[in-house]
Amino acid sequence: MGIEVRVEGLTKSFGAQLVWADVSLTLPAGEISVLLGPSGTGKSVFLKALVGLIRPDRGSIWIGDLDLPRLREADLFEVRRLFGVLFQDGALFGSMTIYDNVAFPLREHTRLTEAEIRRVVGDKLEMVGLTGAERKLPGQISGGMRKRAGLARALVLGPEIILFDEPDSGLDPVRTAYLNQLIVDLNQQTGATFLIVTHDINTARTVPDNIGLLYHGHLAMFGPREMLLSSTEPVVCQFLNAQRIGPIGMAEEKDAAERDAEVAAGVNLPPLPQIPLQLLPSNGLPRPAQRPPGQWCAEHGVIPPVGSFAGNVEPGSARLVVLPGLREDA
Ligand SMILES: Nc1ncnc2c1ncn2[C@@H]1O[C@H](COP(=O)(O)OP(=O)(O)OP(=O)(O)O)[C@@H](O)[C@H]1O
Ligand SMILES: [Mg+2]
Repeated sequence: MGIEVRVEGLTKSFGAQLVWADVSLTLPAGEISVLLGPSGTGKSVFLKALVGLIRPDRGSIWIGDLDLPRLREADLFEVRRLFGVLFQDGALFGSMTIYDNVAFPLREHTRLTEAEIRRVVGDKLEMVGLTGAERKLPGQISGGMRKRAGLARALVLGPEIILFDEPDSGLDPVRTAYLNQLIVDLNQQTGATFLIVTHDINTARTVPDNIGLLYHGHLAMFGPREMLLSSTEPVVCQFLNAQRIGPIGMAEEKDAAERDAEVAAGVNLPPLPQIPLQLLPSNGLPRPAQRPPGQWCAEHGVIPPVGSFAGNVEPGSARLVVLPGLREDA
């Protein structure tokens, strides 16, 4: 289950405005990836390009042997069924009940009977904790409930690839924690390939298997979580550690003089914090795609920030990863 998505040399502009150029990355099948980037760097445009709602100027999006931007409209309609998408604004139909909103893709794309639809919708609403809200209109429930309704709708067709655009924006920290747990549990249950756009650094550090960062018209870095969380590349480490010091300023790129002054004054980022443990599914067992903590660093000879993975034993596996330079009893 889960399908790999391979993006090659993707470029998009609107008129004279370049959004991003030459973006290449692979979303590994069944893994969770997070896409970060300052506001306006084109994260939502990227998700829309992935589902074929926005046509890129150049580049390919390979799903198996199909190149999405080159598909005819009828084939694109078929390929879209592989995707479940939660848009940034939830995009629920305001005049339809929660039930009808969630049932909508089933009525559009399948020949299920109303009785079968009732069963699927009931299942998904239960999964996101919205049983009982079926008859409400989107305007009558809270923002967090609308997000979860959007999530239920994204799941009804049993998608192989799930894209979330800021599922956690506007949620309080407790609800964000619940949502993150739900995402990890869903990944374990469905084995689908996930891509999540978020501004929440804690989510980015603990949920995904891979992290990507869009910055200043290009993909600054994309790779395994441990690679980015131990990276000292200035843009990556400023963003992932929510620091003011570094190349990113209020207007995306910091004024060169201001940055030069920082460098000249020897103002540097504080040392990297330790890499946190990845969130486990609620049953405590790792997801099929989840790698043991510290594995990527150990395999690549990268010494992670001090204190990372010390004494970690991956639940469900006998393997203890001991990294060079770390005390075994720490
Ligand atoms: N349909 C469109 N036509 C013209 N310009 C667009 C269109 N959609 C997006 N843009 C522009 O593309 C750029 C990237 O927008 P996008 O919504 O992808 O940013 P984002 O990274 O998702 O930001 P945020 O974090 O605030 O959601 C913006 O400058 C936006 O104005
Ligand atoms: Mg956006």
